[in-house]
Amino acid sequence: QAFCLAVDGPAASGKSTTTRLVAQRLGLTYIDTGGLYRAATLLAQRQHLLPKKGDAAPQELLLSSLEKATFTLRTSPSQDQGSLPVTRIYIDGEDVSHALRTPEITAHVSRLAQIPEVRQVMLYKQRTMASPSYEETTATGTNGVAMDGRDIGTTVFPNAHLKIFLSADARTRSLRRQAEWGESGSPEDLEKIYQDIVERDRQDMTRPVSPLRKADDAVEVDTSTATLIQVVDRIVQEG
Ligand code: C5P
Repeated sequence: QAFCLAVDGPAASGKSTTTRLVAQRLGLTYIDTGGLYRAATLLAQRQHLLPKKGDAAPQELLLSSLEKATFTLRTSPSQDQGSLPVTRIYIDGEDVSHALRTPEITAHVSRLAQIPEVRQVMLYKQRTMASPSYEETTATGTNGVAMDGRDIGTTVFPNAHLKIFLSADARTRSLRRQAEWGESGSPEDLEKIYQDIVERDRQDMTRPVSPLRKADDAVEVDTSTATLIQVVDRIVQEG
């Protein structure tokens, strides 16, 4: 089996940036599973199939439309030392990367991700993406995969070679998210960001299927006081 790195952690813990850089260093294909759940949410929204609060059974239409859709990720390597690798996400060949980071998608994604049948469809897609044939089509890394999310080490790849759990307190994570968005010009109120993060963590940790938690054999890395490069170096050393 090809090398598999599983990185889990709460919202805005730095998973995506960290995992992308580690993947680049180790020659792994990077898979952003939060991005996949966001893409699933966008697809549901576009087709007016987003489940409403309190909806009991998932609609068959939603599940079949998720099953049929092809989600693809492509990561281009950083151009120089100071820049980060960039990941683009496609639904059936359409680049939807920008549409996935809106407050609306962010607000809906955890509710969709709570539905066991939706997770089943996504589980299949995630496992397929770790196959050599997927690596060939996206041609990013050839040594295996680096996948980040909430349940990679516990559910998607319980036999991953290396499992990392990134943590940081919610205040630190909110400040980081604000700085990230501040750079792109979005005037967000820190308190609102904090509330959103706390609420999303709550939903992710209390759902019945594959809740967010550290796998027993995962290495926990607290990123509150470490720099990005320190965290990346630490994981590369473990790997
Ligand atoms: O990481 P990101 O913030 O993009 O994830 C968006 C949401 O997708 C999470 O809050 C969670 O509800 C869901 N998710 C999940 N399982 C994963 C990855 C993400 O439920 N493996």
